Amino acid sequence: MYPVIIDNVSKNFGFTKAVNRISLTLRQGEILGCLGTNGAGKTTTIKMMLGFIAPDSGKIEVFGGDPRQALARRRIGYMPEAAYYYPYLNAYELLTFYGGVCGMERSVIRKRAGELLERVGLGDAAGRLLRTYSKGMLQRAGIAQSLLHDPDLLILDEPLTGLDPLARIQFRDMITELRDQGKTVFFSSHELSEAELICDRVAIIKHGELVLCDTVDAVAGDGGQNLERVFLKTLEETQGETGGEEVAR
Ligand SMILES: Nc1ncnc2c1ncn2[C@@H]1O[C@H](COP(=O)(O)OP(=O)(O)OP(=O)(O)O)[C@@H](O)[C@H]1O
Ligand SMILES: [Mg+2]
Repeated sequence: MYPVIIDNVSKNFGFTKAVNRISLTLRQGEILGCLGTNGAGKTTTIKMMLGFIAPDSGKIEVFGGDPRQALARRRIGYMPEAAYYYPYLNAYELLTFYGGVCGMERSVIRKRAGELLERVGLGDAAGRLLRTYSKGMLQRAGIAQSLLHDPDLLILDEPLTGLDPLARIQFRDMITELRDQGKTVFFSSHELSEAELICDRVAIIKHGELVLCDTVDAVAGDGGQNLERVFLKTLEETQGETGGEEVAR
């Protein structure tokens, strides 16, 4: 069973075609980076994968079912592009709160929260109120929160934004480790060089359409090409074109 099947999905906001006939299948144990310029449709695609908004047409399956069902949601870890956490909680309390919402046992929450906050480099700051956190620290807290219930599928909307170089390396290690454990990771990013290092496959979205989806090795593996160059070339070459990946069954 594929973790996610996006089958010919479209979503309009008024006259804006935010997502236009996208088909994409996520395979278990892969890291897929979703790239595209501002307004390309990445967040809209993510919101549909999570069942937050419904497609106008097409279908999305998460772990073989409707993403709005608790069974699917329980297996997803999500970090939004802009998180508004309660400012008067500290990071440990934030994770405890989310663990409670997920129905996790207190002892498990305590252990996981401690481990994860340490892992994202917030061990020393775990007791400080979130209102005193820097942007990158909030981002780190968000990554820990998304991993708390040990999800099989991780959906991260621009997780690299605001992270310093050390945090990026830690993020890369964490994500590849999760992939090696068989977890599936989908994340959107504008950080092409990082995506090139982390991802197994990349999907490029332009004006709501999937214009390229392939392995990093296939698109940027021949030395002279790096992902940045491929990205620019793909955007130039696809003026008015549509692309897309056949949906797997
Ligand atoms: N709730 C909304 N109402 C109206 N238009 C929307 C809404 N959400 C998104 N859009 C529009 O849909 C398009 C895709 O937006 P989306 O947020 O998916 O882009 P994105 O690829 O995530 O961009 P960014 O890199 O800036 O985060 C944009 O034209 C945006 O203005
Ligand atoms: Mg976005």
